[in-house]
Amino acid sequence: MTPNFQVTRVFLPWVLCLLIFGIVGTARGEVRPQAAATSTQSANPPAANAPSSATSKYVGAETCKTCHEEIYNGWEKTPHWKTTQNKEPSHQGCEGCHGPGADHVAGGGDKTKIYVFENHSRQQTSARCLTCHGEGREQSHFAESAHASSDVGCLDCHSPHHAKESQHLLVQSQPQLCYGCHVSAKADFAKPFHHRVNEGLIQCNDCHNPHGTGLIRQVRALPSGDFVCYKCHVDKQGPFVYEHVPVKTEGCSSCHTPHGSTNPRLLKVSLVNMLCLQCHTFNSNLTAGGPIGPAHNQSAKYQACTMCHNQIHGSNFSSVFFK
Ligand code: HEC
Ligand code: HEC
Ligand code: HEC
Ligand code: HEC
Ligand code: HEC
Ligand code: HEC
Ligand code: HEC
Ligand code: HEC
Ligand code: HEC
Ligand code: HEC
Repeated sequence: MTPNFQVTRVFLPWVLCLLIFGIVGTARGEVRPQAAATSTQSANPPAANAPSSATSKYVGAETCKTCHEEIYNGWEKTPHWKTTQNKEPSHQGCEGCHGPGADHVAGGGDKTKIYVFENHSRQQTSARCLTCHGEGREQSHFAESAHASSDVGCLDCHSPHHAKESQHLLVQSQPQLCYGCHVSAKADFAKPFHHRVNEGLIQCNDCHNPHGTGLIRQVRALPSGDFVCYKCHVDKQGPFVYEHVPVKTEGCSSCHTPHGSTNPRLLKVSLVNMLCLQCHTFNSNLTAGGPIGPAHNQSAKYQACTMCHNQIHGSNFSSVFFK
């Protein structure tokens, strides 16, 4: 029995107690309102203030409707309709995005008196969207993402009024949306062995967060902090009594190309022995640091290394991954 397991046994009753108290607290309604406020959206601004002079510049979405009826009717069917429920005028309805409209209305539709997205840089429009979405879990890393730093903005992928997709206001569905800019990813997924993204089985979004993650390549991690691959390939996670070191240190992409490959099992090289021998060179025993090379010879019968070393991702029974 591992020390870890014993610790679990000692603490489990305490954890259970805490859970029960937690549930009781929630049932009394002590926890819920807080949770609801954080989960729905960061769109909720700090409590509504008393009307200020700026507030009086807000006219409300119904007023916009009088002249922009068609836009209003379309918009009313989008998730942004929910902003009309916000008590804070600056976060409410059309003006939550377009800013206060009184002067625009007084000017009979003066375009210089309203925030027009087209007239602003991607950085500016994204910042505007982030006034409400910035603290949302999915978008919180946007500012530091590869997309933001390459001048890709929210409106390259989303459109509040002219979305082509019923979900998430996307201008195009995945993966086509992504292929429009990522030609090499498109080529990878067309290779004979690939994750079935084009077939709709999994999405780019399963492994990446297009809004950035703070990790390299905008790759997602599990809540536990583990590599995203374990979400679906649970059996590779272990922990194993005998770990194959590179799986844990260098990660899955030290042997696999995650998008697609001309080699079976998405391997980086076509012959398994060539893959293994990239690291397990015979003379690496002599060079400091490198993993041990196989002592057995390299005659034909040894070339399909995984015939014998078949639990290559780690094993609980064999230090050389036989079973
Ligand atoms: C979530 C932010 C957001 C909200 C809320 C919003 N708009 Fe827009 N609006 C935009 C963006 C962004 C554009 C630029 C076009 C696009 O990407 O859809 C735009 C464009 C427009 C245009 C230019 C014409 C066009 O079709 O592109 C008008 C007019 C307009 N909005 C009016 C309104 C009215 C009226 C409302 C309320 C019913 C509203 N907007 C609510 C973000 C918003
Ligand atoms: C009195 C009528 C009227 C009202 C009320 C009104 N607008 Fe307008 N709006 C116009 C006219 C007219 C234009 C100019 C259209 C043009 O020149 O193409 C315009 C243009 C706009 C544009 C720029 C469209 C573009 O072509 O880029 C936006 C955005 C906009 N309105 C948003 C709003 C919002 C938000 C409200 C509510 C706060 C609102 N409007 C209320 C009449 C109105
Ligand atoms: C490179 C394309 C891309 C960019 C840029 C982008 N998004 Fe998204 N966004 C997506 C895709 C794809 C989804 C759908 C994800 C899914 O299926 O869960 C999505 C989903 C969302 C959602 C709904 C999902 C959720 O739970 O949060 C919101 C809200 C959103 N994006 C806001 C934004 C905002 C705000 C910006 C700019 C700061 C932005 N996006 C920039 C591609 C993009
Ligand atoms: C005034 C606050 C506010 C602003 C500004 C705002 N949003 Fe939103 N957005 C919301 C709210 C509220 C929702 C609905 C969230 C929900 O359903 O829980 C929403 C929903 C969305 C969704 C759809 C989420 C889904 O699950 O389908 C997308 C995509 C999105 N917003 C993108 C944008 C983009 C792009 C901008 C900038 C042009 C923007 N938003 C600006 C408040 C805002
Ligand atoms: C408007 C063009 C555009 C669209 C659409 C787009 N991207 Fe990107 N993406 C870029 C640019 C530009 C970069 C930064 C340069 C690069 O690394 O290719 C980038 C970077 C990335 C990166 C990080 C690459 C790295 O080297 O760090 C990932 C992952 C990514 N995009 C995934 C996606 C996904 C998934 C989608 C679809 C939901 C998408 N992109 C849609 C333009 C786009
Ligand atoms: C099975 C998980 C997975 C899926 C699905 C996936 N990616 Fe990736 N992607 C990765 C990983 C992991 C990396 C990092 C590879 C590395 O650094 O060796 C990566 C790297 C990238 C890069 C950086 C450049 C490159 O090619 O290495 C881009 C751009 C990218 N992915 C875009 C996409 C797009 C677009 C889609 C959907 C069409 C997609 N990815 C689907 C896991 C995935
Ligand atoms: C969203 C779920 C999901 C995620 C995340 C995921 N995979 Fe997969 N993977 C699959 C599915 C489903 C298959 C089954 C094969 C197919 O598509 O036909 C597969 C197949 C594979 C295969 C080939 C198996 C074979 O028999 O040919 C390899 C290798 C692989 N994945 C590696 C990875 C790596 C590495 C990552 C992380 C970068 C990853 N996967 C992330 C779902 C996922
Ligand atoms: C040291 C190299 C190496 C690393 C690192 C590695 N793999 Fe593999 N993987 C292989 C080899 C070799 C095969 C083919 C085995 C065979 O042909 O029997 C394989 C096969 C697979 C398969 C298909 C067969 C099966 O066992 O299900 C999946 C799925 C897979 N790997 C996922 C992953 C994931 C996920 C990671 C990261 C956690 C990973 N691999 C890391 C070498 C590696
Ligand atoms: C990315 C480098 C890398 C690749 C590729 C790789 N290994 Fe390893 N392997 C290691 C490291 C590092 C160790 C840790 C043991 C050490 O330091 O000697 C190890 C350990 C082993 C061990 C256990 C050795 C022992 O004495 O306990 C075996 C068996 C093994 N690898 C077989 C394989 C086979 C078979 C392949 C090809 C499918 C392979 N390895 C691919 C790096 C790699
Ligand atoms: C016919 C079965 C078989 C094949 C095929 C095979 N091995 Fe082995 N391998 C063994 C045996 C048996 C051992 C010794 C196990 C022990 O010490 O208990 C071993 C041990 C190892 C070790 C640990 C160091 C050592 O020599 O004791 C490494 C590393 C290794 N093999 C790598 C490889 C690589 C790389 C390949 C493919 C080029 C390969 N093996 C092919 C049976 C095989």
